Amino acid sequence: MTNTHAIVIDKVKESKIAKTDFDNLTFGKTFTDHMLECTWRDGEWQSVEIKPYGPIEVEPSCKVFHYGQAIFEGMKAFKDATGDVFLFRPEDNWQRFNASAKRLAMPEVPEEIFMEGLKKLVALDKDWVRYGEGLSLYLRPFMISSENGVAAAPSTEYKFMIIMSPAFAYYKGDVRVIIASEFSRAADGGVGYAKAAGNYAASFYPNNLAIQEGYQQVIWTDAASHEYLEEAGTMNIFVRIGDSLFTAPHNDRILNGVTRRSVIQMAKDHGIHVEERRISVNEIREAAKDGSLKEIFGSGTAAVIVPIKGFKHKDFKYELPQLDDSYASRLKEALKDIQYNRAEDKHGWRV
Ligand code: COI
Repeated sequence: MTNTHAIVIDKVKESKIAKTDFDNLTFGKTFTDHMLECTWRDGEWQSVEIKPYGPIEVEPSCKVFHYGQAIFEGMKAFKDATGDVFLFRPEDNWQRFNASAKRLAMPEVPEEIFMEGLKKLVALDKDWVRYGEGLSLYLRPFMISSENGVAAAPSTEYKFMIIMSPAFAYYKGDVRVIIASEFSRAADGGVGYAKAAGNYAASFYPNNLAIQEGYQQVIWTDAASHEYLEEAGTMNIFVRIGDSLFTAPHNDRILNGVTRRSVIQMAKDHGIHVEERRISVNEIREAAKDGSLKEIFGSGTAAVIVPIKGFKHKDFKYELPQLDDSYASRLKEALKDIQYNRAEDKHGWRV
């Protein structure tokens, strides 16, 4: 680490932790004592500051408000039974963050700022990582354009920040989905593969329509034909037909999920036949009719692995069967065993 990237730490006078109810956490609502901030100005990253979590001051003309040049990552830290704290595949998130930055014409964040900053921040607030089934610390690195002015051009100043939130389950209760037949999330040549803030903003309206109908999420289909499954915005999607597991290949419309990659690897480790290939809506509807559609589940950092209880596509509705031997539960247990340091980490995912 060079001197310009030295980390300056300003600690809180009094921690908020005693006032935090860890038994009643709503996802993404409670934040730890500290946050990280680093500004990119005059073509380079300035010093890294860790300071009390709190408001940042920006002008109304700040470019992010006008052109949405903003990206983020979702990661988690876990505590094991002995009190040690681990990050899960953090390098993968750093690399994807920079892939998003490049697509959004933003500066890449050097590894030592991202990783050393993250490690120092997590170490400082490590008491916020609780040990227990389903508990983790959700880490949210993000970057916004912070130059003042409304000319539609990339910013000359950016803020890279990390905030952290103690987390329990993302979805509470059953998840049913609508398979999109009208709206689209991403198109070829677009930004679907990036964790661009606008991808999420654009999904809220169709997702609200789904919620009004009693569904929690939309599974997006390809924009050109609406015939092939893509992803669900907060999750990648896996489909089990017979004993085989399928997920859409990642491309420039689909986020290359870290949990998705882990699920594919763990499925292979468990001897499950898993393929990355296109899955048509028609294939799913036919498999539902002939009984070979066994499971649909989502995978994501926040969501972990979430079984889909039912889906709707146009006028076709289907409830998935309850299985004794569900791949979703088997893979979720295997994932948690690695994350909570209860199993051998043969792929080197814990850091
Ligand atoms: C994550 O799983 O970390 C995500 O980025 C999904 C988020 C929108 C909650």
